[in-house]
Amino acid sequence: MTSDPVRLGVAGLGRAFMLMVPTFDADPRVKLVAAAAPREESRAAFVRDYGGAAYETVEELCADPSVEAIYIATPHQMHVDHVLAAAQAGKHILVEKPLAISMEDAERMVRAADEAGVHLIVGPSHSFDPPVDLAARLIESGEFGQLRMIQALNYTDFLYRPRRPEELRTEEGGGVLFSQAIHQIDVVRRLAGGMAKNIYAMTGAWDPKRPTEGAFTALMSFETGCIANLTYSGYAHFDSDIWMNDVGELGQPKKAGAYGGARRALMNLNPDDEARLKTTRTFGSGTTIEASHNEHFGPVIALCDRADLKLTPDGIEVFGDTERHFIEAPFGPAPRRTVLDAVVDAVRNDTAPDQTGAWGLASLEVCHAILTSAAAGQPVDLQHQCRTKHEEPTE
Ligand SMILES: NC(=O)c1ccc[n+]([C@@H]2O[C@H](COP(=O)([O-])OP(=O)(O)OC[C@H]3O[C@@H](n4cnc5c(N)ncnc54)[C@H](O)[C@@H]3O)[C@@H](O)[C@H]2O)c1
Repeated sequence: MTSDPVRLGVAGLGRAFMLMVPTFDADPRVKLVAAAAPREESRAAFVRDYGGAAYETVEELCADPSVEAIYIATPHQMHVDHVLAAAQAGKHILVEKPLAISMEDAERMVRAADEAGVHLIVGPSHSFDPPVDLAARLIESGEFGQLRMIQALNYTDFLYRPRRPEELRTEEGGGVLFSQAIHQIDVVRRLAGGMAKNIYAMTGAWDPKRPTEGAFTALMSFETGCIANLTYSGYAHFDSDIWMNDVGELGQPKKAGAYGGARRALMNLNPDDEARLKTTRTFGSGTTIEASHNEHFGPVIALCDRADLKLTPDGIEVFGDTERHFIEAPFGPAPRRTVLDAVVDAVRNDTAPDQTGAWGLASLEVCHAILTSAAAGQPVDLQHQCRTKHEEPTE
C-alpha cells in the first residue's frame, strides 16, 4: 500500500534471516537495501536476490545512509555490539531474541536506543503470532472475565538441531533457556499483561554430549494474580505439534515419516561438521519453509473466569460456560507479517509495539530467574518487568 517502503539493512544472513525471507519478500512495506555478513557466499546471494549493498562488517552497514532500520540476526553474543552500533548511527532496530545474554548488556542496549531516540524492537518472537495477539485482545476486552491461569507447554527437537558449539554452552547463551524459553515467556507475559512477580523453576541438563539445559518447568505469578505454568523439552522424543493439528512451529504442515530426523542427522558428526551442517540451513544455501498456518509455540491454554481459551495455529477455541466456539486468526498473506507491522509502525508512525527493548529485558530477566531459581531451589522475585501497552496506566 505504501509508496515509501521502510529501507531495511540486515546484519547476519544465517538461519534467522532465512526464516524471515518469505516475510520480507511478500511485503511491499519494506525493502531490503543492504546487508552485512562475513561469508562471501551469503553476501553474493543477497546482492543477487535484492540488488543492494553487501558489506563485510556491521559498522559499514550502519554507515550506509540509505538504511533506515537494521534487522540484527547475528548470534546472541553479538547483539550487544551490533545494537549499540546501530543506535549510535541513528538507525531503528529490530533485534532477534533474546535481546542479549546478560542483563547488564540488555540494560546498555535499552539505554543506547533511548539516548539515540531510535526504536528498539525485539523479535520475531512468538508473542507476535496472530493467535497470541487475538487471545491477548480477547483477554484485555474482559469479555470472559479475569485471566486466572495459563498453561504453556512445548516438546520439540530443539537440542538436536545442528548447532554452533557455543549454542550448547549455557554461559554463552546456549541451551533452551535463552533461545526457547524466551518465546514462551514472551507469549505468557503478553497474555498476562507483562508484570510477572516471581518464578519458581527447575531445569534439566540430561544429555552429557549436549551439556546445557534441554528442559525446564516453571511456575510464575503475575501482579494481577494470574498464575502460569511453563514447561519445555527440547529432547526430541514426544513432539507436541501433534496437539497443534500437526502444524509445526513455523506454520508448516508436519511431514509424515519425519520422526527422529533431527537425531538421525546428527549421528556421528563432530562439532565442526555440525556447525558446517548448520550453515546449510542459512541464506544462500538452505531452502525456505512453506507456511500455510500461523506460527505457534506449542499448546497454550488461558483460563478465564467464564471461558478457557485454547490457542491453535488458526485461531482460538473458546470453551465457554455452556458453549464452545472458534474465532479465526487469519493467516497471511505471509508469515510474521505482524513483526513488519511493528517495524513499519515504529519507523513511519513513531509508535512502539509491546515488544520493545524494555520488554525484551523483562523477558530476559525471567530466563535468568529460571536458571537462578533452579540452581538455588528457591523462588526468585522479579524486578525489571514492564506492562503491555494495554495495561499501562493512562494519564
Ligand atoms: N525468531 C526465530 O524464529 C529465530 C530462529 C533462529 C534464530 N533466531 C535468533 O537469531 C540469532 C542468530 O541465530 P541463527 O540460528 O540464525 O544463527 P546462524 O549461525 O545461522 O546465523 C548467524 C549469522 O550471523 C553471521 N555473522 C556472524 N558474525 C557476524 C558479524 N560480525 N556481522 C554480520 N554477520 C555475522 C554468521 O555468518 C551467520 O550467517 C540468534 O540470536 C537466535 O536466537 C531466531
